[in-house]
Amino acid sequence: MFKHMKKTIAFLLCTTVAFGLIGCKSVTNGKRIIRISHSQSQSHPDHLGLLAFEKYVESRLGDKYDVQIFPNELLGPSVKAIELVQTGAIDFAVASTGNLESFDKVYQIFSMPYLFDSVDSYHKVMEDNKLISGIFKSTSAAGFEAVTWLDAGTRNFYATTPIRTPADLKGKKIRVQQSATNVRMMKLFGAAAAPMSFGEVYTAIQSGVINGGENNELALTNNKHGEVAKYYTYNQHQMVPDLLIGNVKFLNGLSPEDRKIFDDAAKECTRVERSQWDVQIVEAIKQAKTMGVEFIHPDIEPFKQKVLPLQKELLSKNEKLQPIYDKIQEINKQMKEKK
Ligand code: GCU
Repeated sequence: MFKHMKKTIAFLLCTTVAFGLIGCKSVTNGKRIIRISHSQSQSHPDHLGLLAFEKYVESRLGDKYDVQIFPNELLGPSVKAIELVQTGAIDFAVASTGNLESFDKVYQIFSMPYLFDSVDSYHKVMEDNKLISGIFKSTSAAGFEAVTWLDAGTRNFYATTPIRTPADLKGKKIRVQQSATNVRMMKLFGAAAAPMSFGEVYTAIQSGVINGGENNELALTNNKHGEVAKYYTYNQHQMVPDLLIGNVKFLNGLSPEDRKIFDDAAKECTRVERSQWDVQIVEAIKQAKTMGVEFIHPDIEPFKQKVLPLQKELLSKNEKLQPIYDKIQEINKQMKEKK
């Protein structure tokens, strides 16, 4: 823990004092330091997946690389961390696709409300390499690309007062990710959108600046939002993955052998994260109940009707989306027929 804190402080000093001027030392004792930033705690599935990534790389290439993971927005909120990866100040970060929209509009696809018919269909799409690899590479010219995806469940409303129908959202201020699509979605739902970084949400709810947020169940427990928002509504508006993004120069500069190991480490990261996800969601629901959170299972249809126009709106404004959208609809259909 202390070792980790010392590393963090040294790096923070380095970033605040010297970024862009003298750069930050990325080689220590002959090893290239690989820095990874994310927003979650050290018990979150994302962190456990990244530990598996670290272990995979270091057990094979430990003489060359020292992988260091910085959780809890230590290196800055998600959008800042993406910029650090972009410039190569750090090597990897976990980014929600909501926060990637401003880097390439193709990422609007995941913010489309009610895009996936089921969790199975969402997973199937994310595992469709042909479809996903184009999206992952869309930001290459911007300096980074995604190397793998991490499950981030289904996004639902949670608030200080119960939301049973869209009418309950009227006059409410709900936090959204810093994405224009999410702001628009919230407007269609009938609430006011408050874009802010994830780390600011707890205090914003507690102080009454906002009435709630929308996220998966781990936000209630892992991020403790269930202490200040006691109603969680399964309206299921989005399934938005987290992506592990890496600096393009770093990735392309690796030898083919080392690149293979990093790619396999990324797969291992996803495998561990997803298995943890399933276990932790069940636990989070139990734990949230003991915190006094009420889970509401509403009729989803009225919620859907409010925001479905956004699908058409996005498709007409962004020509990149239609082919991906069509493919996803095909997968939705296949998965339905399978049942
Ligand atoms: C999820 C996701 C995070 C994201 C957060 C948010 O928790 O896992 O990567 O930052 O939502 O709403 O900002």
